[in-house]
Amino acid sequence: MEVDWNLIHREEVSQVRGVVLLKSTCDYWNKIWDFQAKPDDLLISSYPKAGTTWLQEIVDMIQNNGDVEKTRRAPINIRNPFLERVNLSYVGPDRANEMPSPRILKTHLPVQLLPPSFWEENCKIIYVARNAKDNMVSFFHFQRMNKGLPDPGSWQEYFQTFLEGKGLWGSWYDHVKGWWEAKDIYPILYLFYEDIKKDPRCEIKKVMEFLGKNLEEKVLDKIIHYTSFNVMKKNPMANYTSEPQMNHSVSPFMRKGMIGDWKNYFTVAQNERFNEEYREKMADTTLSFSMEY
Ligand code: A3P
Repeated sequence: MEVDWNLIHREEVSQVRGVVLLKSTCDYWNKIWDFQAKPDDLLISSYPKAGTTWLQEIVDMIQNNGDVEKTRRAPINIRNPFLERVNLSYVGPDRANEMPSPRILKTHLPVQLLPPSFWEENCKIIYVARNAKDNMVSFFHFQRMNKGLPDPGSWQEYFQTFLEGKGLWGSWYDHVKGWWEAKDIYPILYLFYEDIKKDPRCEIKKVMEFLGKNLEEKVLDKIIHYTSFNVMKKNPMANYTSEPQMNHSVSPFMRKGMIGDWKNYFTVAQNERFNEEYREKMADTTLSFSMEY
């Protein structure tokens, strides 16, 4: 499909309780906050670019007992409505409300902004976190290629925005720490991108157990294969090539899918500054990340 990029407008941002969100999300905030979850909803949550789509594909493959055709029934953003995403043709809560149960929903909201009905209904939630450095690099490229999102500016500018917690969906630190604390109270499976990358079998098994599924090893082998980076990159139902506002020639959605790509972007000075702040901001949590393979 030919897209006229001049017709796609980068959206402005605004804030809800101090968290930077797309303006359309803020405009619809009451509707999002009042969203009524159902007890059998499964929510996939993450800071943007932490491996959300990967997890969505894994969960859908598990729920469909490894049936690839069923998983390819529709693009991933149609299969799993994005709760707080709103634009001219898309209203997250409306999409979710139209869907038959059991629903799999997606959010990037920080824990304090999750609609309360998810807690009231005791919904199962899977959270995926990714080390801050790779997360930042991935988000920078995503904002370059997704012409519906604000322009990230230069790498140096983006680096600064990220460190100040002024980027979209707020501070990475608050996000990963907030959800980490919530997992001790609510039914949340907290996963790490790096773990899935290093040992997909072990992590996919954790997801299966959490979902109460017991699939044979050969089905698990199939899920590992079809959710690997190279296969998903070629899968039009998972690689966002049908999303009109994404310009994959700027940077593909399925970009590199690796641990440690930050080394290609962080200068020595940025890395030192980052590490210093990181130590301070992570001092009050037991949460820890691996930043290298
Ligand atoms: P990179 O930009 O580092 O390549 P999200 O789905 O949260 O937007 O995250 C997108 C990031 O996850 C991108 O990271 C993308 O390449 C990566 N990703 C998606 N599927 C993956 C897979 N099967 N294996 C490894 N990484 C994957």
